[in-house]
Amino acid sequence: MFINGKTYQTIWPDEKDKDVIKFINQNYLPFRFVVDELHTSEDSFNAIYEMKVRGAPLIGVTAAFGIYLAALKAHNMANPREYIFSCADKLITARPTAINLRTAVIRQLEAIKTANNSEDLIHITLKTSLEILDEEKEKCRQIGLHGLSLIEKIAHNKPGQTVHILTHCNAGWLACIDYGTATAPIYFAHDKGIPIHVWVDETRPRNQGSRLTAWELKQHGIPHTVIVDNAGGHLMQSGMVDLIIVGTDRTTRSGYVVNKIGTYLKALAASDNHIPFYVAVPSSSIDTNITRPFDEIPIEERDDGEVRYIEGLANKKIIKVQIMESDSPVSNYGFDITPPRLITGLITEKGICEASEEGLFNLFPEKF
Ligand code: MRU
Repeated sequence: MFINGKTYQTIWPDEKDKDVIKFINQNYLPFRFVVDELHTSEDSFNAIYEMKVRGAPLIGVTAAFGIYLAALKAHNMANPREYIFSCADKLITARPTAINLRTAVIRQLEAIKTANNSEDLIHITLKTSLEILDEEKEKCRQIGLHGLSLIEKIAHNKPGQTVHILTHCNAGWLACIDYGTATAPIYFAHDKGIPIHVWVDETRPRNQGSRLTAWELKQHGIPHTVIVDNAGGHLMQSGMVDLIIVGTDRTTRSGYVVNKIGTYLKALAASDNHIPFYVAVPSSSIDTNITRPFDEIPIEERDDGEVRYIEGLANKKIIKVQIMESDSPVSNYGFDITPPRLITGLITEKGICEASEEGLFNLFPEKF
């Protein structure tokens, strides 16, 4: 994606130094654009845990690079594999909900089975990281192309009028490598000259919508309006929303979708108002092992400070401000589960399908 006329993706190996992985530190956005560095597997863990990088696809790629950095550090160790496996055990615990984290680490551990020496370990883990990165990028591009057809259909039915799309959290290129998942159809529609406008849920408590999605859309010149999370229902009742597209951190074999807290409520309002509700699902976020979603899927609970304080810019400084009583109890669930009955369809890199086992099996038989 272009930022100030320069092409960026969210994470990349430093061209000058193979021991360094560079990434956009999202905790400074939208106020400051900071390119940060990973040097160790521990750095990858912290970048994911502290949400310097976030979003399921990017979490997976960052973890994959974490294993590469472990292989670099293990180069002169007596038992490099043992060290890599201990780093993998730690990395997998960085955040619980996005399945991409576990999938990427396991793929790296599978890949190094063929390594004969520590040079091989370095070479294979870098190659695998870059493969995952390229695959995520291409999945998003394909999701964009398939999702574009949905927007074109609506535009066709309301010629000359704006297509109003609501999205929740940030499932944009900042959450991936490029294009985004939920945002990819939006970028392609805009680039194709279709008049669109995006309602951006601020997405409390970390405001991924107002901080990151709005920033992304502004960089690309896409008309958008930031709304409080509770406004979507009213906008739908008032006929001001034509389509909803959100992302996912984990989608089960039968079409249950885990995404940022609040997604389920948007789906309920969409169903009540007959608004098409689509989920952009790269196959890397499909988890076919889950059969009892509400019992088996780990829903992240994060620090209560994220609710008790809010971060913002004051006198050119990013500061934290307390916005509630110090000792009132707080609960901070990060994700919720939307059942398939509330989902119009899943936009995948292989096409659009019903949120069902049959729908996903037809497109991804290899995953079942
Ligand atoms: O807590 P976050 O910011 O990592 O949550 C991100 C989301 O819920 C996204 O919608 C999801 O990861 C999909 S990103 C393409």
